[in-house]
Amino acid sequence: MAWARWLGLLLVLLPVVGASKPGIVVRLNKEVLSYVAEAGKVPLRQALQVPIPHFLDRSGQVIQPTRIQILNVHLPYLQLKFIAGFGIRLSAATNFTFKIFRVPEPLHLMLPVALLADTLVAQGSIGTPMVSISACYSLFNKAIVFDGYNSTATTLLAPLQKHIKAVLRNKLCLRISNLVQGLNVHLGTLTGLSPVGPESQVRYTMINAPNITKDYISFDINAVLFLLGKPIILPMDATPFVLPSHVGTSGAMATVGLSQDLFDSAILLLQKAGALNMDITGQLKLSNNPLNTSTLGQVIPEVARQFPEPRPLALKVQLDAIPVVTLHTNNATLRIQPFVEVLAPDSDSAFQSLFSLDVVVNLSLQLYVSEVRLQGTTSVLGNVQVTVASSNVGFIEMEQVQSLMGNVFQRPLLDHLNALLSIGVALPSVINLRYIAPEVFVYEGYIVVSGGLLYQR
Ligand SMILES: *[C@@H]1O[C@H](CO)[C@@H](O)[C@H](O)[C@H]1NC(C)=O
Ligand SMILES: *[C@@H]1O[C@H](CO)[C@@H](O)[C@H](O)[C@H]1NC(C)=O
Ligand SMILES: *[C@@H]1O[C@H](CO)[C@@H](O)[C@H](O)[C@H]1NC(C)=O
Ligand SMILES: *[C@@H]1O[C@H](CO)[C@@H](O)[C@H](O)[C@H]1NC(C)=O
Ligand SMILES: *[C@@H]1O[C@H](CO)[C@@H](O)[C@H](O)[C@H]1NC(C)=O
Ligand SMILES: *[C@@H]1O[C@H](CO)[C@@H](O)[C@H](O)[C@H]1NC(C)=O
Repeated sequence: MAWARWLGLLLVLLPVVGASKPGIVVRLNKEVLSYVAEAGKVPLRQALQVPIPHFLDRSGQVIQPTRIQILNVHLPYLQLKFIAGFGIRLSAATNFTFKIFRVPEPLHLMLPVALLADTLVAQGSIGTPMVSISACYSLFNKAIVFDGYNSTATTLLAPLQKHIKAVLRNKLCLRISNLVQGLNVHLGTLTGLSPVGPESQVRYTMINAPNITKDYISFDINAVLFLLGKPIILPMDATPFVLPSHVGTSGAMATVGLSQDLFDSAILLLQKAGALNMDITGQLKLSNNPLNTSTLGQVIPEVARQFPEPRPLALKVQLDAIPVVTLHTNNATLRIQPFVEVLAPDSDSAFQSLFSLDVVVNLSLQLYVSEVRLQGTTSVLGNVQVTVASSNVGFIEMEQVQSLMGNVFQRPLLDHLNALLSIGVALPSVINLRYIAPEVFVYEGYIVVSGGLLYQR
């Protein structure tokens, strides 16, 4: 592609290494905890199915090793709650059902166990969220014998319960801790690279410890942009981005705020990479090319004189000026200033420049989220402003050329921009997690994506 050749030069020009600070805030509201609790029941029940060593029955003359098996872990209640300034508290009520392989007949026991675990949510060393269990308790109720009970069982019951409780007290919290630790591998995928445009990528990292209140946990995230695999600093003033509290859809699981800086950076990256530039030649066939020297010759006499035979025109569109994204309440616009060079093949079929135009176009920018990507589409807002930058064909009557030119490059340029914007920018996420029914809100200087979350393996 044409832009590729600029990249080598560009890497020399851009200050390399370090990180820009396009601010993003990801706020997970308490609604997400109900979802996690529901989704977490199955893995938690599985984790709690610990092996129980044989019980040594000393009630008879010889010590009888008795096998014990957990038949079922019932988990009627699991709740997660934010602990302000700390993390997440798990509380669960469980009923363990055991089968004691006692001869001649087995014994069935039910043991209600309450579990309490505090999870610290912190910032890991590589900018990923880190969770760890800081305190965990298992509280046992009295066991209930509901099958195989007879008087001899009573003497057995006390030591048997003691044995089971001792095992569970050690193992349950360990299992919960392992389960929680296992999440860290997943959370680590936050920092994976994802594409922004051709040859450019973004990586997200947490920049400080999360803010935790009783209602939400919020993460300040930094986007580092990469071009050809190298991190770049973008020349911009980075004031920290703060997400106001009552934005987005109330009751949504996730509220993600993306500062204007992120847009500016992504657009700048595309502009610097030359990805926004285009040649319109290839997209116009001579047979139905509405823009040819004979058409143009009707409004510019010098063109008619130089090209008595009709020849196709070529347009070279370059976006040297950085496009400007403006975010106002409910209104996102993109202003581009393409430089358009109009060329025609001379007798040697080398292209010569006829004239060039400075164009200003205001585009309205519609933003939407698909899966985990924020994408955009544009349409022209108001008039396209065209002025002559230079001419090799004498005086140009602007009014006539404007409508002619405007029509020809507008559609291909919009198609090109829309194709790029449809690649979009990945929102911060972790593997297998996507946004459900996300809504995009445009505010003064930032946008908000609100929606549910769905975890799917
Ligand atoms: C679990 O145990 C508690 C306490 O004995 C009891 O109230 C509850 O009904 C049990 N639940 C189930 C589903 O067995
Ligand atoms: C009670 O258990 C003992 C041994 O565990 C057994 O010999 C006896 O038959 C049982 N009694 C009843 C009524 O099930
Ligand atoms: C998190 O808390 C720090 C200090 O308590 C504050 O400066 C920062 O703005 C907060 N971030 C968010 C996203 O609320
Ligand atoms: C030049 O463009 C006009 C329409 O603008 C068209 O009618 C004509 O066929 C074109 N000529 C060629 C040679 O393509
Ligand atoms: C959005 O902003 C543009 C440019 O400032 C303006 O022309 C347009 O009327 C605005 N649209 C709305 C819906 O406010
Ligand atoms: C584009 O929008 C800006 C700001 O709203 C306005 O000043 C300018 O006149 C517009 N230009 C065109 C060509 O519509």
